[in-house]
Amino acid sequence: MPNRPSPDSDGRTIRLEVSDLDRSSAILVRSSPHLILPMHTQAMQTGGKGRDALASKEAFSALASARVSMHTSGAGELFATQVVELLSTQLARDLISQRLKSAPETTEALSQILEEPSGALDDGIRLLLSGRPAEAVQAMLQSAGDLKKYGVTIENGSDTGHPLWHACNPFFHLWRQAEHDPHVQSQWRDDPLPREGASLEASIQDFETWKPWAAPLVPVIKDLVAEIDQPSPVLLDLGCGHGFFTRLLQLEGALPAQALFGSDYHPDRIARAHELLSASDAGQFFTTDLLAETFLQTVHDRVRPDIITALMLTPCFDDDTIETVIARIANLGARYIVNVDTGSAWPRTNGRMDEPNLFAGHGYRMRRYVWYKAPLTATNRHDAALPLKAWPNQRLVVHERAD
Ligand SMILES: C[S@@+](CC[C@H](N)C(=O)[O-])C[C@H]1O[C@@H](n2cnc3c(N)ncnc32)[C@H](O)[C@@H]1O
Repeated sequence: MPNRPSPDSDGRTIRLEVSDLDRSSAILVRSSPHLILPMHTQAMQTGGKGRDALASKEAFSALASARVSMHTSGAGELFATQVVELLSTQLARDLISQRLKSAPETTEALSQILEEPSGALDDGIRLLLSGRPAEAVQAMLQSAGDLKKYGVTIENGSDTGHPLWHACNPFFHLWRQAEHDPHVQSQWRDDPLPREGASLEASIQDFETWKPWAAPLVPVIKDLVAEIDQPSPVLLDLGCGHGFFTRLLQLEGALPAQALFGSDYHPDRIARAHELLSASDAGQFFTTDLLAETFLQTVHDRVRPDIITALMLTPCFDDDTIETVIARIANLGARYIVNVDTGSAWPRTNGRMDEPNLFAGHGYRMRRYVWYKAPLTATNRHDAALPLKAWPNQRLVVHERAD
């Protein structure tokens, strides 16, 4: 139990078991977001048991939500002060330095970047590497200067594929060693999903925010379309969600609306995907369940795709079903499969580096892959210092049917 109870916004006292932190965080973040970090700080000060405070990846979702709420309500500076307090605890310092010791390739990459022409985060990196994460955050929040060099990808070791600026953030190192429930598929099927019930206008706004992430995929698809030596090639976006990618492909002129199909487990996502693709037929968007025996038939009744895209779909499956899922995707017989996966687990996704081998076992050879380059810019510069809910290293893999 945290040793010092803290008052909530109405001056009442709250007492929490450390084991309740994740659940309580979710409630507190809605009512009193400014209490999240003090609560975690207290837990971190309670010795061995305090380790639980940031031991689960769920805890980082609460911290990230508190960051957004406090920023929106003008309490961004208070949030930064609280972050510094949390990182000043002995336990946070110990956990971060243990993590850095166990990731020598990452510390090497951080040291090497200091040898290049100076940048805005250099002082913060020096402080982080010398075991002073709280001071590192203060330095990174205050400094100005060039940010571009921190967008390079870490090439070796356990953080391969992450942009270097992830590793500048002390919270990234706490997050990397936090535990994660690997049973993610049930969350997609049973739990309320983020952004569910959003209005059409809100979805269009979300699409605009999401678009820069997916933009590098568009030329990849255009090149594959050009290679298919037949009239009117057809693309199926599996796990299409709200249909952002099919909308992007239409708006960017990769394929006409009639050639774009999408499917997902959730009927409301399918309905929104149809709404977001102008001039589409409702039949182009249909529900499927990759865990159902009938999957192949359901898809082939609607479309025989030349290209399949699956963006962050395979990470939604548990280890005991991924082989079946990949076999089912491969059985659809598309000439190309463009898959986006991740090496890092989040609360709702699993991280796996071996998926190309699984596709190879089902008749597809990997043509190329590229790590997504997530840039650090003036807009997201504080992401190098403050908590996020996840730090994904996403990978785009192009597979070609081997025959
Ligand atoms: C991480 S989201 C990605 C959405 C979209 N591709 C994107 O990149 O924005 C994964 C999507 O896969 C869908 N999904 C999860 N399990 C599925 C299943 N068993 N069958 C079909 N779709 C599933 C989810 O409903 C969700 O829309």
